[in-house]
Amino acid sequence: MILGLETSCDETAAALVTEDGRIAASVVSSQAELHAPFGGVVPEIASRHHLENVVPVLRAALEEAGVSLEEVDRVAVTRGPGLIGALLVGLSAAKALAWARGLPLVPVDHLQGHVASLYLEPDPLEPPFVCLLASGGHTMLLEVRERGSFAVLGSTLDDAAGEAFDKGARLLGLGYPGGAAVDRLAREGDPEAHPFPVARVPGLDFSFSGLKTALLYAVREHGDDLPAADLAASYQRAIVTALTVRLREAQAQTGLERVAVVGGVAANSELRAALPDAAFAPLALCTDNAAMIASAARFAQPVPYPDYLGLDAYA
Ligand code: KG4
Ligand code: ZN
Repeated sequence: MILGLETSCDETAAALVTEDGRIAASVVSSQAELHAPFGGVVPEIASRHHLENVVPVLRAALEEAGVSLEEVDRVAVTRGPGLIGALLVGLSAAKALAWARGLPLVPVDHLQGHVASLYLEPDPLEPPFVCLLASGGHTMLLEVRERGSFAVLGSTLDDAAGEAFDKGARLLGLGYPGGAAVDRLAREGDPEAHPFPVARVPGLDFSFSGLKTALLYAVREHGDDLPAADLAASYQRAIVTALTVRLREAQAQTGLERVAVVGGVAANSELRAALPDAAFAPLALCTDNAAMIASAARFAQPVPYPDYLGLDAYA
């Protein structure tokens, strides 16, 4: 039984996952509402709330799984990348738990965690595949040949796709966090109402900053004559097009047959519909959670007791 902890951003999460990839429990406590008045995550507020939430969330996960701490075989935790203060809460909690029982600890890279959301029951994906990782902090194309690693084929030169959704939502007056709100509003709009640019940067990289500026001007110019739903639908169409075009190019370049999409933006309904042949993690495992961190720990090197006490987080 692997106990996973994730505190890299504004979700405090704990999960229990078995060696063969069955989720015994996955508890996620989101702080989104606390950060909403500020229009984004405030790092110091996030750290403080992780500190308050980490033990209750851990208890809830153990209870949901019907497992006691004595039955845990190793502890997995997100070591980075993320907000440094937020990461340190999870890492310190994980060290304490592992140390108290003399267990090994598995430090997990958050991005490996997102990819490992595809390796869980009931429908675990088998490499090789090309993976689009699109979240609030990252947009990357990855070549995955085995479960413990990946090669980066391309990434964003400026904003992440989720960030483009969040900033777009703010410009459209939809509040924070915005991805799901844009997704909902776009369903009622015309995706061809306004032509937004799709950046063409060299190689397999992405760029979303120009698109964000284009929305700013579109809102200024057409805020009165175009319904917000039309702007949301057109803006979302541009992001989804940028993502799908590059994913297909990566597929052609690597010659890999299978494609997969992970990260918070993988929850987007238009993206899911635009890629009918792609593997997507279940919705609950797209946004940050600890089941994916425990899953990644199945394919990573554990650090033996007590060598991990000096481990540091990385932003
Ligand atoms: O993976 P995640 O939970 O956190 C990071 O590691 O960044 O991703 C969060 C991002 C946010 O930017 C959020 O707006 C976006 O995922 N997101 C969505 C949807 N649900 C969440 N973006 C588009 N459509 C959605 N339905
Ligand atoms: Zn994430």
